Amino acid sequence: MKIQLHKPNFDLKETQFLKNCIKTGWVSNQGKYVNLFKKKINQFTNSNYVVPTVNGTSALHVSLKLSNVKENDEVIVPTITYIATINPILYLKASPIFLDVSSDLNISVGAVKKFINEETFFKNGCTYNKLSKKKISAIIVTHVFGNAVDIKPILKICKKRKIKIIEDAAESLGTFYNKNYLKNKHTGTLGDFGCLSFNGNKIITTGGGGAVLMKDKKNYEYCNYLCDQAKDNKIYSIHNETGFNYKLSNIQSALGCSQFLKLKSYLKKKRKIYKNYCKLFEKNNNYSLLKPRSFYSSNHWLNVLILKNKKKTDLEKIIKRCHKNGIEVRPVWKPNHMQLPFKKFQKYNVRKANKIILTHLCIPSSPDLKFKDQKKIYKIINA
Ligand SMILES: Cc1ncc(COP(=O)(O)O)c(C=O)c1O
Repeated sequence: MKIQLHKPNFDLKETQFLKNCIKTGWVSNQGKYVNLFKKKINQFTNSNYVVPTVNGTSALHVSLKLSNVKENDEVIVPTITYIATINPILYLKASPIFLDVSSDLNISVGAVKKFINEETFFKNGCTYNKLSKKKISAIIVTHVFGNAVDIKPILKICKKRKIKIIEDAAESLGTFYNKNYLKNKHTGTLGDFGCLSFNGNKIITTGGGGAVLMKDKKNYEYCNYLCDQAKDNKIYSIHNETGFNYKLSNIQSALGCSQFLKLKSYLKKKRKIYKNYCKLFEKNNNYSLLKPRSFYSSNHWLNVLILKNKKKTDLEKIIKRCHKNGIEVRPVWKPNHMQLPFKKFQKYNVRKANKIILTHLCIPSSPDLKFKDQKKIYKIINA
């Protein structure tokens, strides 16, 4: 594709930092960039503690383990999110419960409250599902496409019901809540754990990479331990638990450090791209853009076009036409309750999600996207 959905951006800085790793021989999970990258994430998100990981999926996996999700437990999730939000629940032999989304594509707060209030009971300090009688130990909320979840009511009900909150902030680096709503806090720092991704299609990249954000020192120490093969004694190779090889390498951290230098300028460019799309498409009654809500400032990671009054066949025609013209577009993810590995799990009133996939289209949003390319995208979509 000539115009990709979201492509990475590199310059000489990346080469310079990577050369340093190769020259010094520090290529694995030790070296000066490992700590520097961690510090940069820390400073930018203002999270108490950060553990960089090999990708966002591993960050979610270890967060679920730190949330004490055990075999046969259940985890509440939105049905519209990337499959990587759900897979780690199954790595732990637990089960997802799929909830619907709101028109902002994030998990429906109303559905979370209704499900917890009406479909669960609280006993001996834990929440149980009335239907399955299983313990619900956590909820994962995804800040989809960089748009923040209305998290305050979720924090409140989950605190009361002792349900751990994991924020999937893979797509929302640079999305902050407003001062009045939540004191300018970065997404991923409100729940018990926040998970970032630095995959090649994210706002900044380390090739592959992620991070766990958390508030609590004990969790931080345990997270470090688990991500580094659960080493109890490094010299005599004592391991008293099953750990993971999830630490981010110095090479990947070096890439991340150089990318961080550009994050603020990317955020500015992406805001402009969003505004340009609004201008181009909203002069036409057939389209609108998915709008960030008023209680946060979005990183505008991926712009989503809403096709009003269109049918599934229209969406398919547009996708075909775009691809023929070298423009990468795709519908929103197929809802996870419809994915083969997850069909057997509980879904709770997921009506809205089923409709969204017919009318919503992700459109190119790379920071270096030119206005002339945006005009071309409009022309081809609207042909
Ligand atoms: C919402 C969401 N969650 C999780 C992930 C997983 O991140 P990674 O690809 O770094 O494993 C991604 C991105 O890929 C994502 O978009």
